This record gives sequence, structure tokens and C-alpha cells, in this order.
Amino acid sequence: MKEGAKTEGLSLDTLAVHAGQPPDPVSGAVMMPIVLSSTFAQRAPGEHQGFEYGRSGNPTRRALEACYAALEGGKHGFAFGSGLGASTTLLSLLRSGDHVLTGDDVYGGTFRLLDKVMAPLGIESSFTDLSDIDVVRNSFRPNTRMVWFETPTNPLLKIFDIAKIASVARERGAIVVVDNTFATPVLQNPLALGATAVLHSATKYLNGHSDVIGGAVVTSDEELAQRLAYQQNALGAVPSPFDCYLVLRGIKTLPLRVRHASASAGIIADRLSRHKNVGRVIYPGLSSHKGHALASQQMTGFGAMISFVIKGGLEASKSFLSSLEIFACAESLGGVESLAEHPAIMTHASVPEAQRCALGIDDGLVRLSVGVESVDDLWADIERALGKS
Ligand SMILES: Cc1ncc(COP(=O)(O)O)c(C=O)c1O
Repeated sequence: MKEGAKTEGLSLDTLAVHAGQPPDPVSGAVMMPIVLSSTFAQRAPGEHQGFEYGRSGNPTRRALEACYAALEGGKHGFAFGSGLGASTTLLSLLRSGDHVLTGDDVYGGTFRLLDKVMAPLGIESSFTDLSDIDVVRNSFRPNTRMVWFETPTNPLLKIFDIAKIASVARERGAIVVVDNTFATPVLQNPLALGATAVLHSATKYLNGHSDVIGGAVVTSDEELAQRLAYQQNALGAVPSPFDCYLVLRGIKTLPLRVRHASASAGIIADRLSRHKNVGRVIYPGLSSHKGHALASQQMTGFGAMISFVIKGGLEASKSFLSSLEIFACAESLGGVESLAEHPAIMTHASVPEAQRCALGIDDGLVRLSVGVESVDDLWADIERALGKS
């Protein structure tokens, strides 16, 4: 796509391939060059060509940031060295005495950051089930500055109403951050629903190949964007140019990967719900899911994450995970390859046991990240392993 070509009105499939990446003006290279230089020559002191020092800005990173912004329909994109680097930078905008209203089912590392790093700095968080809008309304405190949640949540796939929560937050003068890692911009656009900022662990679907750790924030709020740009440089949690290049490459197939994997997840969730060794199946696409109607309305698909309970508790779920042959037993999600994990022992071990139990992250709970392999091969793998659980 030509430099300066209009991107308004283009579909996500086109933006994923082109946004932020016109052909290189020097060589005509169609793929974004990896600019490794850590410093940039100035014509005269203070007279630079948009880049001074690699932490403050880099051409490959700038392309990725423009691409992030286009995908989420926002004006400003920011790239970070990890999802938690993105979270830390956003949370660094708060001051001692501020309160964050947070969803009760957040990624374990986000919980740890809020509970073990931000709380000792005087930034309080409360972890609340945001499914009921009256509970949301009553959970605001005079010092609530930020509302932070995932939807679907990790690992219980709860669905929260972005538009309603954003509307209450607006009345109370708080900003809303939606972690859109699970849904991706292919299935859900939080900014269009009223969120102030969208956050991603780009490690997951955006990169999509399990070979980069990265994070993203997108916003259209000018004041927030200015403060974020400052903090991004001041805190320095920025990604390498090579990682930016890899994420740009991964994003080109984001819509194809996400739609394919989500369709397979729908089939697998349905089959799991009819299997004799399986108890509760949690997937927003099943009509039995509490948030199914809301998910149908605020998402354009139900995603490729499934959580389910294996009958027989810890031993059965461990045996299932050890017996899988195509699914790798590994943390993380969102790659082309299918992964399975045990939240209580793996990704959510940093959430205290009492809280895990209260939430329903019990010993039989297994989380699947469905990849892009053949759904029949994936199901055969699951069925074989369930037979051994
Ligand atoms: C929903 C969600 N948000 C944020 C993160 C943190 O991202 P990263 O591991 O890239 O730091 C993760 C990591 O698993 C996640 O699942």
C-alpha cells in the first residue's frame, strides 16, 4: 500500500497486511526493514529526521505501533517489550492513593503486578466480578481512577459488558483499560465500545507464533497518549526492532488464524460438552455459558480458548495433560500450535489458593488454546487423552 494511502474504511484483513508499512522509500522493499541502529544521525544539533535514540523511537517499532493503532481503530499505538511491560507503563500513570477497580479473574501476572508491586506503592486494587453492572456501580470509590478488566477473562472466560462498564466509568471520571488479548481486534473492538485504552499481550495472538514476548497499548485519548509516550520512553520497557518485525509479520495472518482457530474451538467445545469424562465446559460460544448472549452481541466470534473440568480432579487432569500428543502442555496461548495447561499449577499459581478456589479455578480445570491444525486431528488427540484420564 502506498505511503499516505487512506486507511479509513479498509477491512481488518487489509489493515493486518499493510497498516503502517508502506514500501521502504529508499529501496522499495515491500516488507518492513529491521532497523537495528540504536542512534540516528542529526543534520545539526536538534535537527533530526524523526528518530534520535532507539529507546525513544525506531522505524520498525513505529511501523508496528501504527499497525496496532489501525487494528484497534485507535489514533495512537504503543509497543512494549512484554504485555506486563505495557501494563506496568499504564499503571505508572497512577499516583499513591489511587484505586484500580479490576475484574476478579485476571491473568495471574496482572494480579501479581497489582497486588505485590502496585499495592506497596500505595495504589490499591479491588478484584470484583464485573458481570453485574450494579455491582460495578457500587464498587467505585471516590479515588477510583482506572477500571481494568479482561473479557473474555483468563482462565474462566467470563464476559463483561464493555459498553456499560465504560459508560459508568465515564460518569465517575475513571479511565477504562480493556485487556483484549483473548479476543483480539478480529473479534472485539473495545475502543468502539467506549474503552479509553486497549492492552494486549502481543506474545499471544498478535504475534501468533510463540516466538516473541511483546505488549501493546492503543488509545484515541490525546492526553493519555501524550502521557503514555512520555512514560514509554522514561520507563524504557520497549521491544527490540527484530521483535517488532516478527510481530508485524505475524499480524499479517492474524484474521486468518483467529477465525480458523475460533471455528475449531467451537467444534471442540461442543464435543467436549458431550464427553462422559468431562464436567463443566466453559466456552462463550456454548448457549450454556452465562455470558453467551452478551458475547454474541459484543464480539464477532467466540475465540479459541476453552476451559473445562475433567472428572477425577487433579490426578485425572494431570494424566490428561501428560497424554496429549499434538497439544503441547505449556503456558501461554494464541500461537498457531495448540497448547493445553493446568491454570492452578501453571499460569495462575501466583493467585492465592483461597481466591483460586472461590473463583472456580479448581484442580480439575484445564485450559486449551486451540491452534490452526486440523480440528479432526486435535479432537482425536483430546479423545485419546481423555480415555487415559
Ligand atoms: C490476558 C493476558 N494479559 C497479559 C499477559 C501478560 O503478557 P506477557 O506475558 O506478554 O507479559 C498475559 C500473559 O499470559 C495474558 O494472558
